[in-house]
Amino acid sequence: MDEIAIAAARLAEAGVESPRADAELIAAHLHGVSRAELHLVADADFDPRFWDDVARREAREPLQHITGRAYFRYLELAVGPGVFVPRQETEVMTGWVIDELAKMDVAEPVVADLGSGSGAIALSVAQEVPRARVHAVEADPLARQWTERNIAAWAAAAPHTAGRVTLHAGDFATALAELDGAVDLVVSNPPYIPLGSWVPPEVGEYDPATALWGGGDGMDAVRVVEATARRLLRPGGLVAVEHGAQQGPAVYWVFSEEAGWRETRNHADLAGRDRFVTAVRP
Ligand SMILES: C[S@@+](CC[C@H](N)C(=O)[O-])C[C@H]1O[C@@H](n2cnc3c(N)ncnc32)[C@H](O)[C@@H]1O
Repeated sequence: MDEIAIAAARLAEAGVESPRADAELIAAHLHGVSRAELHLVADADFDPRFWDDVARREAREPLQHITGRAYFRYLELAVGPGVFVPRQETEVMTGWVIDELAKMDVAEPVVADLGSGSGAIALSVAQEVPRARVHAVEADPLARQWTERNIAAWAAAAPHTAGRVTLHAGDFATALAELDGAVDLVVSNPPYIPLGSWVPPEVGEYDPATALWGGGDGMDAVRVVEATARRLLRPGGLVAVEHGAQQGPAVYWVFSEEAGWRETRNHADLAGRDRFVTAVRP
């Protein structure tokens, strides 16, 4: 299909990282087919609105805002302006959480997801560990509209599990006081980019600032998550916190034995970069 090749060349010229894949995904979304079925779209049926979407991507609007969808583990989530687009690197930490919950000898483990955004982590946990009770905390009212929407769509698709995810509006510094000492696992992908860092336009212009910036060293929210995890977790409870590729040693220190934690570990993402820290509440 000539249109795809032309669009891919334009996206490459604009600095898009995966131009061919993005051109194909835009076309597939528009024509209501999978990427593998694109060849079934006859030239005569090719929708010219494709070029409007290509222009948006050329201006570095995220692909997920153009299609309105983001894929995360086994979920398809609604995303758009006001919410952080879930990333592949977070899937590995979420997988760790799910594996640990599966091993946990607790009938209905209680999980807190601090800074839930689209609900990617909270809903994956609920989907893959159906006996878990998940509390999603989100402070940003705009982001929360997307959390609510995704929780509602998920509950409609699986009514028997509805009610297993509860959304809480508020700051994770003070959230869930009623669960102090009663949570089995705390997970968070907090804002962790150091102020002033360069980020690509898809991130800086489209992901909400509250989802990105973590103060001068990027660690402000990580420290708050540590204090909240300390407050919420029962003895023996687990914490998992995502961080930037350069922050492994700093986050390890925040959750170190010296700081009152045990079994602290650094974990890598699929690309082999330091990506999250886990620890156990003594
Ligand atoms: C990097 S995004 C992660 C979103 C989602 N958990 C994911 O992994 O895709 C961080 C989220 O934390 C929220 N957030 C930041 N600071 C917060 C705070 N103090 N209390 C509650 N939510 C907060 C942001 O609004 C944003 O939705």
